[in-house]
Amino acid sequence: MSLSDTAGKRVGHSRVEMTEMVMPNDANPLGTIFGGRVMQLMDIAASIAAYRHARCNVVTLSVDSLEFRRPIRVGHAVVLHAWLNWAGRTSMEVQVEVYSEDLMTGEHARTSTAFFTFVAVGPEGRPQPVPPLLTLSQEEERRFQEAAQRRAERLRRKEREEN
Ligand SMILES: CC(C)(COP(=O)(O)OP(=O)(O)OC[C@H]1O[C@@H](n2cnc3c(N)ncnc32)[C@H](O)[C@@H]1OP(=O)(O)O)[C@@H](O)C(=O)NCCC(=O)NCCS
Repeated sequence: MSLSDTAGKRVGHSRVEMTEMVMPNDANPLGTIFGGRVMQLMDIAASIAAYRHARCNVVTLSVDSLEFRRPIRVGHAVVLHAWLNWAGRTSMEVQVEVYSEDLMTGEHARTSTAFFTFVAVGPEGRPQPVPPLLTLSQEEERRFQEAAQRRAERLRRKEREEN
């Protein structure tokens, strides 16, 4: 981590917006996108946000429960927004929201939300420190606190599963 990064980085520094058109080879027989393709796009958008914050290699540690609430049709756009909610010593929580957009009408709707945990790793694949996350608004601070609670719950779950 560079010396200037130790002071922290803003949420806006790593925010991602990514747009893809749904093509026929992304689709199931109903003409709507495969869940696995959406998951891949979400992982890419989330990892770009984590890379921008950490500026080193990151790996996906977990994804919290994921639902596909609406189908996205071939020819429509998938719009993904990803941003950091929280950063610890070596791990980060990234929230990803997915929207469908009808490119003919502009109509759009949220289809999925998920929370990804990434860990920054060094050349040997071991966790390494990331810059602190600076929260500048009440909303960013609220998201930070909520993410800290989710993280505590994940760690409690991990401990229960290991015992
Ligand atoms: C991610 C990985 C490097 C973590 O290694 P580890 O030895 O468990 O690391 P640690 O125990 O030191 O934990 C590292 C960080 O993750 C956090 N963490 C560990 N388990 C966690 C969990 N279940 N939920 C949330 N955070 C967790 C720790 O609290 C720590 O965070 P902090 O430094 O911000 O406090 C290791 O598990 C790994 O390589 N996993 C495979 C990743 C991968 O291949 N992903 C692609 C998906 S197929």
